[in-house]
Amino acid sequence: MTPPLSVKFVIGECTAEVFARHGAKVVGYDIQDDSGHSLAKALGPSSSSYVHCYATDEAQVRSAVSTAVTTYEAHLAPYLLMMLNAPGPFHFYFSQNMSSAKRLAGKVAIITGGASGIGEITSRLFVEHGAKVIVADVQDQAGQSLCKELGAEDNIVFYVHCDVTRDADVKNVVDVAISRYGKLDIMFNNAGIAGKTDPTVLGTDNEDFKRVFEVNVYGGFLGAKHAARVMIPVKKGVIIFTSSVASVACGESPHAYTMSKHAVVGLMKNLCVELGQHGIRVNCISPCALATPLLRNAMGAAKSFVEHVVCESANLKGVVPSPKDVAEAALYLGGDESKYVSGLNLMVDGGYSTTNQSFTTVLRNIAVLIQKLLKMIKSPTSRQLAFPIKYNILYTIFQWSFITCEGNIYSYVVRLYCYECNDF
Ligand SMILES: NC(=O)c1ccc[n+]([C@@H]2O[C@H](COP(=O)([O-])OP(=O)(O)OC[C@H]3O[C@@H](n4cnc5c(N)ncnc54)[C@H](O)[C@@H]3O)[C@@H](O)[C@H]2O)c1
Repeated sequence: MTPPLSVKFVIGECTAEVFARHGAKVVGYDIQDDSGHSLAKALGPSSSSYVHCYATDEAQVRSAVSTAVTTYEAHLAPYLLMMLNAPGPFHFYFSQNMSSAKRLAGKVAIITGGASGIGEITSRLFVEHGAKVIVADVQDQAGQSLCKELGAEDNIVFYVHCDVTRDADVKNVVDVAISRYGKLDIMFNNAGIAGKTDPTVLGTDNEDFKRVFEVNVYGGFLGAKHAARVMIPVKKGVIIFTSSVASVACGESPHAYTMSKHAVVGLMKNLCVELGQHGIRVNCISPCALATPLLRNAMGAAKSFVEHVVCESANLKGVVPSPKDVAEAALYLGGDESKYVSGLNLMVDGGYSTTNQSFTTVLRNIAVLIQKLLKMIKSPTSRQLAFPIKYNILYTIFQWSFITCEGNIYSYVVRLYCYECNDF
């Protein structure tokens, strides 16, 4: 139930209201005491309170945070979020308590590549949130058994064989959505392949290159084209593509895959501009590496190993990324919460694509190497090492020290020494 609000709405107030409605405890702070108090009163004392606080005054901000923690201590762990918008009523802290409301109730969605990985998890989440889902894939057995599990008998979900590279198949799946459920609200063009793994231009197999483009780009284009065919007349709809972190961070995937995912973002933006006049929103989701069959097969490795590599290379630590994170992004983009979001390439990569840590990694590796060599040379057993080996170790240490004793690099490496080994 939305509490009645007597004060005018701005971004902070609206967000406080939405968060409180979704079960959050909200502590608002502002300098407009009258508005703040009346909003807190409208939201209800059990879920909201107000603190006078000037956002640029550190002492006041600290005190506001303390008030938030002491007021709602039991609710604060483990999530604490601070939202700062431009000066205006209600900055707030809140504790998280996700709503269980069905966010796609009454909507109809097609999910290509819906039988496995990201598509499968998204199909499950969309059904959970009240959508009617058509799972479109070429893996008939997996698709059909998923649909059976999710409620095919109750007409909640339906499997259609669809090779996204075939115009007739894509036309058919959209027509099935219309004949079965009467409309199409969300077209999730998610099907994709990794292609062969050779990262070199000379080693690229031409036929494989074309195939990757056919599935990842042309397949997405056909999905958008046939979705637009039924969305334009009703002047609404949402088209979502799965791109990849490879659409912004280059050099870690083969050329065809990287290029195809860049192309998907280009397609999304062009469609966003064209289809906006028809009330159709078009967005992309770009996940980081995930241990789905696509990546597991490409790496030829087990799920646990892939997850280990992903976590080791991650920017955001402490969480294992999963297809559910991408499904949640699709839920947001497919639902009405994002009704004014279009033309977005939503990165679901824990910030991976915002940084390139190669420089730091090289220096850290040098520091670790020197540390290991020094430990080796200092150890009692080193006396037993043959002279040429000892000489080589010492020479390597000398070499690296010489290189790193230059200017800023020196201080940088010294810092890394201190960080990496306590005995320095
Ligand atoms: N897993 C990752 O690390 C990762 C990272 C970034 C982006 N992605 C993208 O996510 C999307 C989903 O991949 P996933 O990781 O879930 O892999 P996945 O292999 O588990 O799922 C891909 C699905 O697409 C289907 N498919 C392939 N070719 C098809 C075709 N011609 N027609 C219809 N369906 C077809 C497959 O049968 C499969 O069910 C892909 O577009 C992929 O490029 C994956």
